[in-house]
Amino acid sequence: MLRALTSLVFIVFTVAFVAASSGYDAAVDQAQASGWTLPATAKEEKNPLPVNEATLAAGKKLFLQKCQRCHGPEGKGDGPDANHDHHDHMDLTNPKNTANNPDGVVFYKVWNGKQNPKMPVFGDQLTKEQVWAIVTYVQTLRKK
Ligand code: HEC
Repeated sequence: MLRALTSLVFIVFTVAFVAASSGYDAAVDQAQASGWTLPATAKEEKNPLPVNEATLAAGKKLFLQKCQRCHGPEGKGDGPDANHDHHDHMDLTNPKNTANNPDGVVFYKVWNGKQNPKMPVFGDQLTKEQVWAIVTYVQTLRKK
């Protein structure tokens, strides 16, 4: 009995250690499982742009050009090309999505897009700086 208990404790610690050292991250893992392509470091990546009027104005302009048709003018997931079956995830103001979407995660969702439900890849039509500007703007639409 004691030996079984000791082995169990050992296994639990080993799993916890491997998980911690391999950079396992629940938010990134969950996003990947639902079809997004995110590097393991996505959550830690910092927005290189300053949050100021110029960045936000550039981000807003690009958002209206590239994202509005699906996500709507205020990011509520109500654009003309919105996928209504996935409204909860398309609503960028939905407070349930805030914690799972730090800057770096949003960057890669936009950069790499998603197959199903479909969101276009933007890495082949925008620069990194443009995507970071969009990220800066999108984060101002979110509610805590
Ligand atoms: C063709 C329609 C379409 C366009 C254009 C589009 N998206 Fe999306 N987007 C979607 C769909 C559909 C989802 C929901 C995916 C899901 O359910 O997993 C989504 C999800 C997202 C999410 C994740 C929300 C979450 O809760 O995880 C972010 C962030 C996002 N879009 C940002 C953008 C930005 C920024 C742009 C413009 C650069 C953009 N999208 C353009 C269709 C689109």
